[in-house]
Amino acid sequence: MNLNSLDEIKHYIIQNFKLEDLIKEDCDIKKIGSRLMACCPFHEENTPSFYIFSDHYHCFGCKAHGDAISYVREKKGLGFIETLEYLGAKLGVDTSPLKKNKIDKRDWESKSRQLKAYQLAQDFFVKQLFSPLGKEAYIYIKKRGFSDEQIKAYGFGFALNSPNALAQYLQEKGFSGSELEEYSLVNNGGENKFYDFFRGRVMIPIRDIQGRLIAFGGRTLLPTSPQKYKNSRYDKKYFLFGLEHAHKAIKKTGKAIVVEGYLDAMRLWSLGLDHTVACQGTAFTFEHMQQLKNLAKEVYVLFDGDRAGRSSALKLVSDSQRVEGVSFYFTELPDGEDPDSYTGKNGVEKLGELFEKSPALIEFVIKDKFATTPEQRTPELLKNEILPWIKSTKDPLERAYFLKKVSELSGLDEATLKSGLLANQLPEKKYERELPQKIEVEVKKERRESVPFKQLPQYVKDLFGHLYFAELRDELDLKHLKILLTKQIHLEYPWFSLAEELLFYLEKGEGPCFKEDPYTFPSVNDPEAQAFVFYLRENKGAFKCENRAHLIQKLMREHEKAGLQTQIFSLRGEIKRQSENSGGKCERQLLLEITELYRRLTKLQLPLP
Ligand code: UTP
Ligand code: MN
Repeated sequence: MNLNSLDEIKHYIIQNFKLEDLIKEDCDIKKIGSRLMACCPFHEENTPSFYIFSDHYHCFGCKAHGDAISYVREKKGLGFIETLEYLGAKLGVDTSPLKKNKIDKRDWESKSRQLKAYQLAQDFFVKQLFSPLGKEAYIYIKKRGFSDEQIKAYGFGFALNSPNALAQYLQEKGFSGSELEEYSLVNNGGENKFYDFFRGRVMIPIRDIQGRLIAFGGRTLLPTSPQKYKNSRYDKKYFLFGLEHAHKAIKKTGKAIVVEGYLDAMRLWSLGLDHTVACQGTAFTFEHMQQLKNLAKEVYVLFDGDRAGRSSALKLVSDSQRVEGVSFYFTELPDGEDPDSYTGKNGVEKLGELFEKSPALIEFVIKDKFATTPEQRTPELLKNEILPWIKSTKDPLERAYFLKKVSELSGLDEATLKSGLLANQLPEKKYERELPQKIEVEVKKERRESVPFKQLPQYVKDLFGHLYFAELRDELDLKHLKILLTKQIHLEYPWFSLAEELLFYLEKGEGPCFKEDPYTFPSVNDPEAQAFVFYLRENKGAFKCENRAHLIQKLMREHEKAGLQTQIFSLRGEIKRQSENSGGKCERQLLLEITELYRRLTKLQLPLP
């Protein structure tokens, strides 16, 4: 087979490769009806949600999606050219035209072509926003509080709600469909038809620090759309949104504000807080911090006021401590507010007060840890988490300050804590990630680290399932359920939000399963939550039952039992440690507590009336 250009080779491979053959190397493919399915090779699962079609794959669990080429790139971590070589070899294609010296040039050429395509697209989006067809989008942006000047300065645009307006425009400018597909501006519809990737969305240009366009984010105008943003492929882990706008102000003030959302960042710019950047809903990474380190002395983390926002603070601690010369603060917003809504309601001065009151990130996390850990687990908490953090705090004054705080929170005196600090059995806090040698742009699917639904305990899954399918006639004890789901079960993101939404609908007397098909929790914009709903609907039969209220009561008990058992377990651990050390609660006291817990557990094991 003699193919001469990259395009020809790529085309030939896509046309001739049976995706199924490629995927079966990694997992068992099942045929269900006429569909080919497998347990997803990109995430852990026990029941299949990975669908294989003739020319593409789609996972309803983790939303992995693509063709043979993207499969190999992601699964094997190969670069684009390497992937073509790998697949080419399997098909017996001569891939020597892709050889090294040519590629470097091609890579460079393709980067500058991408930039050119992006600039044209950006101009196109801006033009549409100010055209009659962009009116709705324009009004939307105005309603979000941006002036005409700001709209222009920040580069807002609009992608028409048309199948291929941009595809056509750029093809006329000399870009090939497959090239544009590579830049995530179009989707390949097969038979040489290409469709716009962004449709009916407010467009936000994403630039690197030098102002070069690297991607677009497109926000839907529909409040019910299951996908709030669509983004072109770029690695959020390495790019902070808005750095080209913010870097001068950051340098000048020595301060940086890090928010989650594009719109939060732009909103704060519009209020004069130009030193704001956004981590775009994913983690605020070590790589991001490194970039800020060269500009700022103080970094204020200003995440949405929700559990997800607060619990992500914890994940920042060890990374932030590796960034020398920068102090990190955590600015907490009231529940349910993001920086945009908060300043909308309270004004920017009030936000200024919050910054002034902000505790150091580590202080915030320590307090939060104490507030959410049962008292009897204090020794573990100190030993495993808090003292190691303090140990890795290099500044002696900061250290002394944190010790004082911890002493206040734990009730242990500072001398004891210090001797704990000196004890060398403290585990070294290991840094999880090494700084990569080379920055490679890869596709990131998740915006937030969410706990996969497969990892939920069975009774929680069952409980959610029954609540999802509950009907009006199922007389549920909602008051009890609410306490259980919001206060007693410790649910991680996104399950906490999902529980809240389920309760909300049940309280209104309309279970979610009667809504549009499939109902996907608009407030929980998370692939795991959506995968869970998909799982529920696939397993609808398993949730048929005579007396749902009774069953739910039983599941709630399961939970209470599990809770008691954990407590007993932890007290027993305590007793064991007591015999090794001394101090803390006395053994007799602990035994009494355990007896009481057992008594409650036995009561729960009696059959329900
Ligand atoms: P938010 O849902 O908080 O969006 O996600 P937002 O930017 O504040 O938008 P508004 O104010 O609700 O209109 C925070 C960020 O997470 C990323 C985006 O970068 C977004 O700005 N995100 C969110 C996605 O990439 N995809 C999504 O579907 C949702
Ligand atoms: Mn937001």
